[in-house]
Amino acid sequence: MLLKIQETADFLRAKIPSEPKTAIILGTGLGNLVTQITDKTEIPYEIIPNFPVSTVEGHSGKLIIGKLGNVDVLAMQGRFHYYEGYDMKAVTFPVRVMKALGIETLLVSNASGGVNPDFEIGDLMIITDHINLFPEHPLRGKNFSELGPRFPDMSEAYSKELIAKAKRIAAENNIRVVEGVYVGTTGPTFETPAEYRYFRNIGADAVGMSTVPEVIVANHAGIKCFGISIVTDLGVPGKIIEVTHEEVQEIGNSVQPLMTLIMKELINQ
Ligand code: HPA
Repeated sequence: MLLKIQETADFLRAKIPSEPKTAIILGTGLGNLVTQITDKTEIPYEIIPNFPVSTVEGHSGKLIIGKLGNVDVLAMQGRFHYYEGYDMKAVTFPVRVMKALGIETLLVSNASGGVNPDFEIGDLMIITDHINLFPEHPLRGKNFSELGPRFPDMSEAYSKELIAKAKRIAAENNIRVVEGVYVGTTGPTFETPAEYRYFRNIGADAVGMSTVPEVIVANHAGIKCFGISIVTDLGVPGKIIEVTHEEVQEIGNSVQPLMTLIMKELINQ
């Protein structure tokens, strides 16, 4: 694994003119932020050695390196989901490569189903913490101490400092944000009403099919994380309606500019 990480990092270093310290992983259909990146270098996943290839509809699958405001960033447009069939080492491989490239801060976005009854469709939820319900742990197996410790601390998986900054930015720009715990589960089914109720009962505010693996590996690697989720549907009794991937994308689209603003300001302050 170490050799593969190095090989991929070397390939990318040769193509990237800058040395970004900030990376961004954009969720399903949430590519709006890349329109704000200037001086772009785009690298499709297909040509990156050792990178899995993204398959799900709505994911274009490329790395975009450039400037967001005044800051050099490396953005992943499209991520690798466990439900697509990749194992956890593949899902989180890009984060390993980010670390090898010198990334210190990781911003992630996703779409989720809200289970907190105070939430509304279209809310932006700043992720304060997560619950890992994936059946495979990305750190299971031999630990490479070069990459991080055997038993990583997760007491502040999402940086309190970045959360505070993001809340301030949202308030300054009159953007409604909520905060909460994201539970990560495999999908690809959306939840039954009983499953939504269960997630609420175990302490979640929103449920989705991504993010948790990447944030675990980022924490293992000592990368500071920030996560934001667009609540695209509600798993709240009385408000549960049929969910489709298209609706999730539509709601995501309408709220994206606000999320982009928060992320851009967050790294430019
Ligand atoms: N459940 C799981 N993942 C999701 C949902 C949901 O309701 N909405 C968007 N992603």
